[in-house]
Amino acid sequence: MSGQIPQRFIDDLLARVDVVEVVGERVKLKKAGRNHSGLCPFHQEKSPSFTVSADKQFYHCFGCGAHGNALRFLMEYDKLRFPEAVEQLAGRLGMEVPREGADDPRAQARERKRKEGVNLLELSASFYRERLKMPEGEAARRYLADRGLSPEVQQTFGIGCAPAGWEALKRHLSERGIAEAVQIEYGLLIQHEESGRTYDRFRDRVMFPIRDVRGRTIAFGGRVLGDAKPKYLNSPETPVFHKGCELYGLFEARQANPRLERVVIVEGYMDVVALAQFGIRNAVATLGTSTSEEHLSRLFRMVSEVVFCFDGDRAGRQAATRALETVLPQMIDGRQARFMFLPEGEDPDTLVRREGPEAFEDRITCASPLSEFLFDHAAEGRDLATIEARERFASQVLAAIRQLPEGVLKSLLLGELSRRTGVDQSRFEALVTPREAPENEQRGPEAESVEEPVSRPEPGHGRGRQSLSLMGRVLQLLVHEPRLVERLPVEADWYPEADPEARLCREVERLLRAGRYRSAQVLLAHFHGTPEGERLATLARRELLIPAGARAAELDGLVEHFRRHRLRPSRQEEVDALLSKQQRGERLSQEDRQRLMVLLAELKG
Ligand code: CTP
Ligand code: MN
Repeated sequence: MSGQIPQRFIDDLLARVDVVEVVGERVKLKKAGRNHSGLCPFHQEKSPSFTVSADKQFYHCFGCGAHGNALRFLMEYDKLRFPEAVEQLAGRLGMEVPREGADDPRAQARERKRKEGVNLLELSASFYRERLKMPEGEAARRYLADRGLSPEVQQTFGIGCAPAGWEALKRHLSERGIAEAVQIEYGLLIQHEESGRTYDRFRDRVMFPIRDVRGRTIAFGGRVLGDAKPKYLNSPETPVFHKGCELYGLFEARQANPRLERVVIVEGYMDVVALAQFGIRNAVATLGTSTSEEHLSRLFRMVSEVVFCFDGDRAGRQAATRALETVLPQMIDGRQARFMFLPEGEDPDTLVRREGPEAFEDRITCASPLSEFLFDHAAEGRDLATIEARERFASQVLAAIRQLPEGVLKSLLLGELSRRTGVDQSRFEALVTPREAPENEQRGPEAESVEEPVSRPEPGHGRGRQSLSLMGRVLQLLVHEPRLVERLPVEADWYPEADPEARLCREVERLLRAGRYRSAQVLLAHFHGTPEGERLATLARRELLIPAGARAAELDGLVEHFRRHRLRPSRQEEVDALLSKQQRGERLSQEDRQRLMVLLAELKG
């Protein structure tokens, strides 16, 4: 960091930023009178004593005494140093942080260097773009056209090409007074170790500029036009480029939608660009690395939902396992992570071209919530009928839960684990609760189990969201697991008549039965663009915390409930019906006879 940040800039910044918004992106807040309140992120608590005041622009915790303004919050919560927190807030508002004071020449030199690097990279980016338009760009233009990239999307992503020679960029930059040493430092020029000769790193490639969140070019990725190796070449680490935290396409996604709520993480440049061409403008790609903590914390500062997209093969599943481990510690309430797997042999680029953007959107909508992926993954290859397998299953899930920050998700998952294994939830809670306060240290699991349970909504009721109607639960089950439609009674007489949701449900049942669909995508495609489609998509996105094995029973139970309510005649009518059945000479079943006895007794009493 260079120079002092002027105080008036900090005042100005704090005047423009809203602490409720800053805190609200990281902590779930509820409006309570003039203030907002929530669970304090700085100590463990079960009822909210943390308040944020929009009027006074500060937060205060009555439990642990933490308090401060938006800057202080960022420093504490995101573990930033003061200038970094200022940078971050300023970045949100698109403000450049001014520096003053000539007291630190080294810092000033660094800053000059950063500017120099960015200039040099911008120069290179426009050089590559220009080449693409010139005769020497012919082959690259043809390649891009063959891959189906429109001129518009090429422009949006600033795609260009590096000429085939050894020194095209070097000459261009050197003519503009840029020292070779600087070109080397920023990864554009390579120096041969022995001869000392220098030559362009990127030659005869399609060039993708990698931009930071503010749109400044910080590096490049280059792809060969044919099958030569390496297929992709990226800039090395430089003073402005750190591969492990940058995401390709993030700037462009934010340009397309400043209110971005969700991003999809895919593997490659071409995937991002192809999806954008088809109107899916929220894809980003890591740069040949797996998704890192930095990637995620950066993303979660901007959006609340991240969807990981993987190939359907073994490598894809392995990558998903790694992503799960990385994302767990970041799952504070209000954030969502979901996992989607593509059919084998496809990547987003090929798939969106083959099946169209709507089908791809539907895949995103249907991606498994973290909970589902976590349990499925732990159950994989295990016969949960055996105690030993269940123990290993539980251990694996517990290890994951331990990685989660305190919150509703954690307790929901514990509840789910206990349902799946038949072990009391308090046992599991004792196993994952970190012991911090000294007074807790004395207490064994028994003491903990008599404590108030952490608020635990019913299964299927997402984190802190509105609860579903009963018919909504039927719909949700069908959307998540269309095959369950076979459990529904063939006679549709159990549906409540006036309920509009029941009408939708009947329609869904009809479609599912007719098409024998095994996935909800077709269903969502059918209703696409209608309010019903919206409703179904919302249900598909909502986590279904009912274990796979218990879903059929849940559905049966719901149908039974509706049947009872809808068909419940008055007792007298029921008795009459049973008696007339008997009088017509029909045999009464054992059940009927018992019911009749109960009813008669009730009528007498
Ligand atoms: N990658 C890389 N270096 C390589 C290969 C791949 O950095 N030698 C990164 C690039 O970011 C690339 C991503 O990994 O976009 C995906 O690579 P790959 O699966 O090989 O992409 P493909 O889909 O095969 O690429 P394309 O569609 O361009 O053929
Ligand atoms: Mn590809």
